[in-house]
Amino acid sequence: MTAPDKAHQRIIFPLDVPTKVEAVRFAKLLKDSVGVFKIGLELFVAEGPSVIEAVKATAPDAKIFFDMKLHDIPETVKRAMRSATKLGVNFITVHCDNASLMEAAHEAQSNDCIVLGVTVLTSLSREGLREVGISPELRDPSKLVMHRAELAKRAGLGGIVCSALEVASIKERFGSKLVTVTPGIRLADKKILNDDQRRVATPYAATKDGADYIVVGRPIRDAEDPLKAAEVIAKEIEEALTDKK
Ligand code: C5P
Repeated sequence: MTAPDKAHQRIIFPLDVPTKVEAVRFAKLLKDSVGVFKIGLELFVAEGPSVIEAVKATAPDAKIFFDMKLHDIPETVKRAMRSATKLGVNFITVHCDNASLMEAAHEAQSNDCIVLGVTVLTSLSREGLREVGISPELRDPSKLVMHRAELAKRAGLGGIVCSALEVASIKERFGSKLVTVTPGIRLADKKILNDDQRRVATPYAATKDGADYIVVGRPIRDAEDPLKAAEVIAKEIEEALTDKK
């Protein structure tokens, strides 16, 4: 799968809001400024499958990223995947620290729906990896991301989620064989209050280094003018794509 043609279509906006009403409000506002709406735990737990229908009806040209980050025994993941694909979503996430889980998830993959492996959360630093008992030789996030990307590729997944700090080496290793999605995106001149993201980069740097899609949440959601923020981000992506040529 190749990256979208237009810069704004590379922006994944997480609908990290608690209600369908707010999700639809953002979908209506941003439908021509981003390419993908991400529905994650907060919204799905609150509203269930009907929120996916509502977002699709509001923004029919946008893709839907169903960010459940599944992590369970293979049979459970396989069955959850079957249910998820019936919802008509374009991306689904699973954690990628377990080969048989990913193989089970892979069965759900089709031309219309890509399964993405979440390698190492962008909120985790080296210290976080030490805390959860990752062995010293893999405690460097870039090493662990590469290790898990290998597992994802071997299991047949279509792409991975990693930080922009690792995306260049992932692209060098896998080229277009793995779609890369990078969260932890921050604008150079804007700080986020109490930010939990640790491995961060700008839209320009992430795209220049090879991200096919970037996830940008709070820099758009909490901006005074979210539409303007999305425009600024699309412009940065455009510049990076031009500089890459
Ligand atoms: O831009 P912001 O930090 O607000 O984006 C947060 C979103 O990115 C959340 O929806 C979170 O689930 C998602 N995400 C992440 N790290 C990952 C995968 C997804 O932050 N590895």
